[in-house]
Amino acid sequence: MAGLEHEEVIASTGPRSGLPVIVAIHSTRLGPAVGGCRMWRYPDWRDGLEDALRLSAGMTRKVAVCGLASGGGKTVVAVPEGVTLGLDRRADALRDVGEVVASLSGRYATGPDVGTTAADMAIIGEHTGHVFCLPPERGGSGDPSPHTANGVVAALRAACSRTFGSSDLGGRVFAVSGLGSVGGHVARQLAAAGASLVLSDIAAEKKDLARELRAAWADPDEILTAEADVLIPAALGGVLTRDIVPRLRCAAVVGPANNQLAEPRVADLLHERGIIWVPDYVASAGGVIYAIGVELRHETRASALAGVRAIEETVAQILDVSQQTGRTPADAAQELVHRRLSGAHQVRVSPSARAGACPG
Ligand code: PHE
Repeated sequence: MAGLEHEEVIASTGPRSGLPVIVAIHSTRLGPAVGGCRMWRYPDWRDGLEDALRLSAGMTRKVAVCGLASGGGKTVVAVPEGVTLGLDRRADALRDVGEVVASLSGRYATGPDVGTTAADMAIIGEHTGHVFCLPPERGGSGDPSPHTANGVVAALRAACSRTFGSSDLGGRVFAVSGLGSVGGHVARQLAAAGASLVLSDIAAEKKDLARELRAAWADPDEILTAEADVLIPAALGGVLTRDIVPRLRCAAVVGPANNQLAEPRVADLLHERGIIWVPDYVASAGGVIYAIGVELRHETRASALAGVRAIEETVAQILDVSQQTGRTPADAAQELVHRRLSGAHQVRVSPSARAGACPG
């Protein structure tokens, strides 16, 4: 039997919504846990539980790799397939989440994630102060997705520097899979930088964005294997499978979707093919770095933004170690996480301690 890796897992039926509300605290080793609230459809609530377990472990890695003094957790509201939530039931589910988070007395704070917004955080905030990214008029740092996108662009710069010898993104070709809040911002930033884009989303109305950005469009089942310099997974997880790796036509995979690897071995297969994979928990850390910077560390916006941009150096460091040791970027990043969790390296405790890159 595999042991439970998590400190605490709460699965409850929301008293107002009747929906399964799952909160997983993976680790508070480096500080109180943070991690967004995902509201998504699952065939069974146990699939939501599994997602919460995986995503919360990813949050521990995400904050640790960037040297933040926080731990990892996640909330999942598992909506049964075929059920469309009305506004009232949705708000009730958020209140149910607020109550569970409140019961944890600060061991875990939530924030937005797939399926929730900054406005939703205000509803959760009716029950608990342990919530990130409230709308600015409510004193929070607001929608984190532009900052997550900034972090993805920083990671892309490091990956392009390693792969093509220049961190300039103009003139490169990027395939973006998923044009949700983060993917949409990434596409806009890349277009503004002069890159060529192939875009895709399961929602056909996102074709409008492709038109606006003068980008090519690919169907969702074609985008992963589109010819591009870099593939950017920006939708749900599990897209990098054993089967897809031999068919990829890109030099690097760098994107914000959480849990991109269908199984850990896929990192080795990518490495064997000479495709650079930047671990998703590094590429997607911008939102949480910004929110923690502004809301917990009381940094100025400019300083929090510099923390997000430092993802470029963190990725460069991971790719350097990978190149020097012949190990995968996944292994190099994981080792950095282990070092932080074992306390061998000091975590960032004050803005002045955060000099450029996450300290090695
Ligand atoms: N949900 C996002 C993530 O996975 C961002 C986020 C979470 C931001 C929690 C703030 C707090 O990183």
